[in-house]
Amino acid sequence: MNIVVNKVHKVLGKTKVPGDKSISHRSIMIGSISKGETYINNLLLSDDVKSTINCFENLGVFIERKNNYTIVKGLSPKKFKIYNKKLDAGNSGTTARLLLGLISGSNNGYCFTGDSSLKNRPMKRVTDPLIKMGADIKFLDNENLLPIAIKGGNLKGITYRLPVASAQVKSAIILAGLQAQGTTVIEEPKISRDHTEIMINYFGGNVKKIGNCINVKGEQSLIGDEVFIPGDISSASFFIVLALIVPESELLIENVGLNPTRTGIIDALITMGANIKVISEKIANGEKYGDILVKSSKLQGTTIEGNMIPRLIDEIPILAVAATIAEGKTIIKNAEELKVKESNRIKSMVNELKKMGSKIEETKDGMIIEGPTKLIGTTVESNGDHRIAMAMVIAGMVAEGHTKVLDSESIHISFPEFEKTLKEITK
Ligand code: S3P
Repeated sequence: MNIVVNKVHKVLGKTKVPGDKSISHRSIMIGSISKGETYINNLLLSDDVKSTINCFENLGVFIERKNNYTIVKGLSPKKFKIYNKKLDAGNSGTTARLLLGLISGSNNGYCFTGDSSLKNRPMKRVTDPLIKMGADIKFLDNENLLPIAIKGGNLKGITYRLPVASAQVKSAIILAGLQAQGTTVIEEPKISRDHTEIMINYFGGNVKKIGNCINVKGEQSLIGDEVFIPGDISSASFFIVLALIVPESELLIENVGLNPTRTGIIDALITMGANIKVISEKIANGEKYGDILVKSSKLQGTTIEGNMIPRLIDEIPILAVAATIAEGKTIIKNAEELKVKESNRIKSMVNELKKMGSKIEETKDGMIIEGPTKLIGTTVESNGDHRIAMAMVIAGMVAEGHTKVLDSESIHISFPEFEKTLKEITK
């Protein structure tokens, strides 16, 4: 599927974005190991979350849709069904990594695989700590990569310093730690998203955060509950940037997740001069959310680095588009994790934005963008990566002429309604 876009003249109105992807995955996973039923309102039904649902259904968990709710009937991982085929995480790193942690509490053996992109993403970052906890793990083809065979059971708590700031790795260890004997202590080099910790505590568990350390009590049991999934700030960020860079625009995005470990994009854009206001903040199941009002603004370049990076890791592709339109230099540093996402997102953004005339250069751990540039429409690649595809569509909407974004079906990984919503808010 190719998407052809033209320059838009205004972004106006009021909209919503679908449920947060990270919280959606966790609601299925944590609901699946909790006693009783979990009622999930506003679950994101995208390809990545469908991969998680399929894996849990294959493990014998009962999941059904009723009106706006998804209902999960939990099971102890010790009672998961034997599954003789490979559990397929598709394109989803969150599915593969969190499920590896969770399943290491089961006594059965399982095999994991994924699509061609996921089969190239590092897994030792998760398997190393799980092996220390007592899981038996084998790489079936190549060291560090899927497919993987895992047999768990009899886990013991460990103290572990994460080599990279990764919520996926942290969450995998937490999910294993819940089922281990003794306490697990995880130290993070930089604070990453904490949706797993929040949901476990909401389900009656005990995960304590002390500075950069997370303490997980072993042998816990959780109780299913009702969960509301706020809109995904990562999806909202495409519309936030579009409303900022198209003159005379004003857009209200309702019910967006505002967990402080995820709002780096708002902070970075405000530093760049953006007129963004958060109105009517609320809390549901421990997660903050609210409405975001965005008005077109003149942006200036900035430097983004250090502790800020995990708070906006998935928004760097769209931030690169904003930086192209901003006046002056934007420097993105300490973002080497971008190289191991669904594509190498440093290379993807540098190559594709260059085709449209952006003055953007790759560095060893990020990129430097010199603005402002008047982008010129052309044909660009999505690199099979949903966030690159959507960022390039937004770039096309401020470029002269037509922009064709090739192979954009990956957008369904996180935001199936992206094109439809864009049509509703643009003129
Ligand atoms: C995610 C964590 C991040 C993020 C990914 C979703 C999660 O990955 O990039 O899209 O749901 O935990 P890392 O934790 O590997 O940085």
